[in-house]
Amino acid sequence: MTRIISIANQKGGVGKTTTAVNLASALGRSQKRVLLIDLDPHAASTSHVWDGEPAATIVDYMENRQLLEDCIFRTDDGYVDYIASSQDLQDYISKMKNIHTLPEKMLSIVKMCESKYDFIVIDTPPDFGVLQVNAVLVSAEIIVPIYEYLSVPGLVALKDMITACDQVINLGKGRILRMLAVKADCRTKLSRNIVQVVHDNENSLHTVIPYNIKLAEAPAEHKTIFEYEPTSKGAMAYMQLAKELINIGA
Ligand SMILES: Nc1ncnc2c1ncn2[C@@H]1O[C@H](COP(=O)(O)OP(=O)(O)O)[C@@H](O)[C@H]1O
Ligand SMILES: [Mg+2]
Repeated sequence: MTRIISIANQKGGVGKTTTAVNLASALGRSQKRVLLIDLDPHAASTSHVWDGEPAATIVDYMENRQLLEDCIFRTDDGYVDYIASSQDLQDYISKMKNIHTLPEKMLSIVKMCESKYDFIVIDTPPDFGVLQVNAVLVSAEIIVPIYEYLSVPGLVALKDMITACDQVINLGKGRILRMLAVKADCRTKLSRNIVQVVHDNENSLHTVIPYNIKLAEAPAEHKTIFEYEPTSKGAMAYMQLAKELINIGA
């Protein structure tokens, strides 16, 4: 069965895109068939894996200009298929007349891709807007990257959103929220405390992604960490994360 994982958090700059791109590549390098969907109009995942204008984006599929298969491309590193995003996604959302269109489109993508991929990883925008909600709607697992204390109201809002999604589409068992400590600098007491808080939460991921400058440099080269600096601590951590997820099972 395909595992669908959204990378979500209502804040920007917390490592969602870095996690989506490098986790997808690590899963691909672990012999898994992976589709990365960029559902953020900022299109940071798209530009991370692709240097230039994509020939088609998710908006072309949403607006019925292209077939889904014509919107799926292979990343340069050769391990991941992806569906690109673009700024047009924001216009599409603003002009959308029927609120059912987006969930129907997302579900159709998942249905068509189910037999082709072991994992679908979805990068989301930094808010609880319609795009993030729709990503969570089709996902059984939600990875929440955390590098600073997540405010209690923020966490409650995220859990409420996940519960609301459980009520709209029942996936058999409740969606699992998996916190992931990222950008951790374990020389500092603050970072060690945050990692501890993350690990105290049920279903949180044991792997800790360290602060690693190579991870911050790689996007400008349009490369995953495995192409940019395969022996870096960042590369090792994302490979470890992929292994942990594979071992957890669906
Ligand atoms: N583990 C890390 N170590 C160092 N820099 C990181 C790490 N993870 C992310 N970054 C950098 O932090 C910034 C925000 O990360 P990003 O993945 O774009 O966050 P988001 O998608 O949540 O907005 C980017 O400049 C990125 O390169
Ligand atoms: Mg992002």
